Amino acid sequence: GIPDDSSNYVLHISNSMPLCAVRWNPGNQDEIVCSSSQTDKVLLFDIGYVSSAPTEVLQKGMTKFHGFCSESRKGLTDLAFTPDDKSRLFASGLDGAVYMWDRRLSKTHCVELTALLESQFTSVKLNMDNRTVFGATRNGTIHVWDTRGGRASAAFQSHNE
Ligand SMILES: *[C@@H]1O[C@H](CO)[C@@H](O)[C@H](O)[C@H]1NC(C)=O
Ligand SMILES: *[C@@H]1O[C@H](CO)[C@@H](O)[C@H](O)[C@H]1NC(C)=O
Repeated sequence: GIPDDSSNYVLHISNSMPLCAVRWNPGNQDEIVCSSSQTDKVLLFDIGYVSSAPTEVLQKGMTKFHGFCSESRKGLTDLAFTPDDKSRLFASGLDGAVYMWDRRLSKTHCVELTALLESQFTSVKLNMDNRTVFGATRNGTIHVWDTRGGRASAAFQSHNE
């Protein structure tokens, strides 16, 4: 939005959409990545080069639940880089899946970790093994996938939340 003059930030990047998550790329201090629940695109900015134009835009390709989900659920919420492979990036979707991009390969997602169509993921985290991915949904379930494959996702939920 519009810069607030009372703030003492060193950099302001304008964006027309409300942001859900902003993350540093641990492999590149000049790079940040942003997501918005109002778009299925992931925006990357070079903060060493003051510009509100993204340096790279990643997007969702065809998805499992494409056509079943309303437009309001196409957005992405949280973001996570893979610590040991900085070209890999995960984003949680409101449309029943967590997505992974491999920036060396494509600007379109290459892995889709799906749950149920109703699952609206609001958070994504990687485990310390850098291979297990956790996704939490708006209704309180946590899903876990092993990106090495071989095992289906598991889901768990607390009794109260
Ligand atoms: C995960 O990645 C981090 C960063 O590269 C590394 O320090 C750590 O050893 C990795 N963990 C495993 C279990 O490979
Ligand atoms: C939450 O969503 C999961 C699917 O992700 C579903 O199995 C579960 O029944 C839902 N729980 C509630 C309380 O709606």
